Amino acid sequence: MQRAADVFRAGSKVIGVVPTMGYLHEGHLSLIRLAKQRSDVVITTIFVNPTQFAPHEDFSKYPRDLDRDTRLAETAGNDILFVPSVDEIYAAPYQTFVEVKDLTSVLEGKARPTHFRGVTTIVAKVFNITKPRVAVFGQKDAQQAAVIRKMTKDMNFDVEVVIGPIVREPDGLAMSSRNVYLSPDERKQSVVLSASLRRAEEIIASGERTSSMITGEMLRMIAAQPSAMVDYVSIAQDLTLEEVSELRSGMTVLVSLAVRFGPTRLIDNTLVEVR
Ligand code: PAJ
Repeated sequence: MQRAADVFRAGSKVIGVVPTMGYLHEGHLSLIRLAKQRSDVVITTIFVNPTQFAPHEDFSKYPRDLDRDTRLAETAGNDILFVPSVDEIYAAPYQTFVEVKDLTSVLEGKARPTHFRGVTTIVAKVFNITKPRVAVFGQKDAQQAAVIRKMTKDMNFDVEVVIGPIVREPDGLAMSSRNVYLSPDERKQSVVLSASLRRAEEIIASGERTSSMITGEMLRMIAAQPSAMVDYVSIAQDLTLEEVSELRSGMTVLVSLAVRFGPTRLIDNTLVEVR
């Protein structure tokens, strides 16, 4: 792999990388297409990264299907699939981690305190191995995108971080490899996530400026679904991720949420420009 990256770089080809944990869906494929537009050679990585899962989380049962992923990535225009093993990436005794501080202490980081350290470590390693000029991530994981941007800047990685828009199912549910865990009934109820975000956009557009009024309405909608258990609903500054209590015109806010349906935890978000 390293050799392939060196050959492309020596030939002054622009390498675009799309890091994933596989079980590819249209959201991932949209990022591969975006990478293809921005680079000569696209490397998609598939690695279910153990360091970003807490011991009680779904690492061992995370869905995997390499044959299907290989076909799908190719149809989207991918050139090279990089599928390392855990032993290769974290050769024992593994000791080095990359950690972004404040940005990771809120939202997802609160619920999953060791998660982002695993994400930034694997993404830094993928940058070093694949030597990309462009790296593409999804807005679906808004905090992850912010954390990776920060790491890239703070660590002087010579990589342009590009963020692709959220790809949704026809009924609005954001695509996720974890959606396969939902029972048919939970799948129906899960539409409330995107519906509550659309409602927040409407309320803000109609002039509401108090965050608790907006999140209150979202929480009421979500609570009407019997299997939904809210982890958080948040309105935060888009870059710092600091909570905002009163919206002001000119601000861009990240409205985000995490909701459990049984054992399955789903996240979704929308960026709203306040007029
Ligand atoms: P994974 O969940 O496989 O997602 C890989 C990339 O696809 C991420 O950048 C994610 O934000 C993006 N993505 C997922 N669902 C999307 C959707 N519906 N629309 C648009 N983009 C979507 O995120 C990870 O893997 C890992 O944390 C990783 C960055 C690979 C590090 O291990």
